[in-house]
Amino acid sequence: MRKRALLITGAGGEIGHGLIARLSATSETPIITLDVAPLEASLTPYVAREFTGSIMDGALLERILAEFDVDLIFHLAALLSTRAEFTPVTAHQVNVEGTLNLLEFAQHEAESHGRPVVFMYPSSIAIFGLPDLDTKAAAGRVREDDWNCPTTMYGCNKLYCEHLGRYYTHHYKQLAAEPPAGHVDFRCVRFPGLISAITVPSGGTSDYAPEMIHAAARGEQYDCFVRPDARIPFMAMPDGVEALLKLAAAPRERLSRTAYNLGAFNPSAEEVAAVVRASFPGAAIGFKVDAKRQGIVDSWPADVDDAAARADWGFAPEFDFARAFSEYLIPTIRRRYQGEGLVR
Ligand code: SER
Repeated sequence: MRKRALLITGAGGEIGHGLIARLSATSETPIITLDVAPLEASLTPYVAREFTGSIMDGALLERILAEFDVDLIFHLAALLSTRAEFTPVTAHQVNVEGTLNLLEFAQHEAESHGRPVVFMYPSSIAIFGLPDLDTKAAAGRVREDDWNCPTTMYGCNKLYCEHLGRYYTHHYKQLAAEPPAGHVDFRCVRFPGLISAITVPSGGTSDYAPEMIHAAARGEQYDCFVRPDARIPFMAMPDGVEALLKLAAAPRERLSRTAYNLGAFNPSAEEVAAVVRASFPGAAIGFKVDAKRQGIVDSWPADVDDAAARADWGFAPEFDFARAFSEYLIPTIRRRYQGEGLVR
């Protein structure tokens, strides 16, 4: 008999950290993880079985399939937008071929146990591409199907995988003589920049906000790599994790879309710097613009319309800009730097 489990890929990353702790408190299903690096010690007590390896390793996925009965997957493994620009072919392999491998894994799981496999996928504001700042200013809160013209490899990868997920959910093997017994139930949120008090992201383009906050907490000088007026949406990590869990639990018939925009607050880089200076007196924040990363941020919307997520499955972020700092980021970061240390 195979053992029942839910699978998290990229479990040791930013989102995985918050998700594992939260899931282990709320879900009775044992958690199994797949990550290229071993999980850090603080996460392993929550995990029934840890696989260290790549989502590109078909034999490893076969082993997991043979041993575990999985009907919920959080496929978090990815190379983020800045890193992907340096190694676009590798990014495509990990972000697209890796996702295809996981979708096939999910399909085989569904066929083997005859139940749908809910496949949770974090997409991104990077799937949008606005051609210039005037258009960005005029566009305001961008809706899901507008401006789907990404300028980064990561954005192209995420947008295509949204479509792959839709294909697996609604059209997989549509010409086959016999329809497959089970199927993938793909559900996707498009995260804005995520800000965690526990981890510092690596390789993303929205990293300037979390980097600024964590540098100030460490008493280090920080040069922000985008202009003070750069504006994109952000969200506090607990709201991101909650959104994944809420969408995973939503009744299928309530979902009118495959991919949902999510937003919470959308400060400019200068507004973030001002709150960080007020929270950490003495914070030394400068601006040293990296034209290429600035170009990516300029192509992302200043805000998103997330009405569909609110209407279909009750998305309601707890933290606005002020509360994200006063009730989550500042107290949690202070505690961590004073005592437990920070996960890097
Ligand atoms: N935070 C991600 C990045 O900057 C976007 O999804 O790449």
